[in-house]
Amino acid sequence: MRPVLADLEALARQAGQILRAGLGQRNSIYHKGVIDLVTDVDRRSEAFLLGEIQRRFSGHRVVAEESGGLAGEDCCLWYIDPLDGTVNYAHGVPIFSVSLAYAEGGQVRLGVVYDPVQDECFSAALGEGAWLNGLPLQVSPAQELDQSLLVTGFPYDIRTHPENNLNHYAHFALISQGVRRLGSAALDLCYVAAGRFDGFWEIRLSPWDVAAGALIASQAGARVTDIRGQPDYLKPPISILAANAAIHAQMLVELKKNL
Ligand code: IPD
Ligand code: CA
Ligand code: CA
Repeated sequence: MRPVLADLEALARQAGQILRAGLGQRNSIYHKGVIDLVTDVDRRSEAFLLGEIQRRFSGHRVVAEESGGLAGEDCCLWYIDPLDGTVNYAHGVPIFSVSLAYAEGGQVRLGVVYDPVQDECFSAALGEGAWLNGLPLQVSPAQELDQSLLVTGFPYDIRTHPENNLNHYAHFALISQGVRRLGSAALDLCYVAAGRFDGFWEIRLSPWDVAAGALIASQAGARVTDIRGQPDYLKPPISILAANAAIHAQMLVELKKNL
């Protein structure tokens, strides 16, 4: 059976309610690394999504952050981030999302990112468009990097890995209007899709962080590549650059100065 976007939106909204209900409660927090956290709410949201996908779309393969996912046919592949923004969540900062993407034949076709605090459901279908709560999304018309508001993030091994994005961050902070760090890569991409941010880049991500948001951004008119300008941004090591064509071109020139 083939999923339709409305099914994914309903699933993401239900998972979002799990996150919303747990926000500010005393959740158990575990360390996957020195600053890489997982809460029992991440696990509850993922267990819910895996169960629902298995029940509705049996035989599909699932790649999910916390459990690894489910074995299945490569033709029908899901990417799940049950809680994107765990560090925010663990601190009670209300910026986080659920991210769900469906790919066929190696191409992401459907994507949903749901922010349960703002009740914002971003979605996209390949070749059809991108929407926020059903209304069409469009990237910003910005033409000058100098006047652009950017967003980025940093890998969890920022303290120990030489490629920690601080070089690019320091550079863009001086040549743009500003650089934000929201803490949810999926929402960063959706905010580019909505024209709230003019550009997003990040390095050393995982496919569940970007699969849905990148489709949403591209269907809203963003150019989405890796930070070297290559189109196959889901090929490891995953990095991403998303912006309208003019800002994408200018950011690419600047990123290449520090590669
Ligand atoms: C993280 C967030 C963050 C990004 C990190 C991701 P998580 O995902 O998307 O914005 O900077 O690289 O790992 O751990 O909250 O699901
Ligand atoms: Ca994530
Ligand atoms: Ca996560």
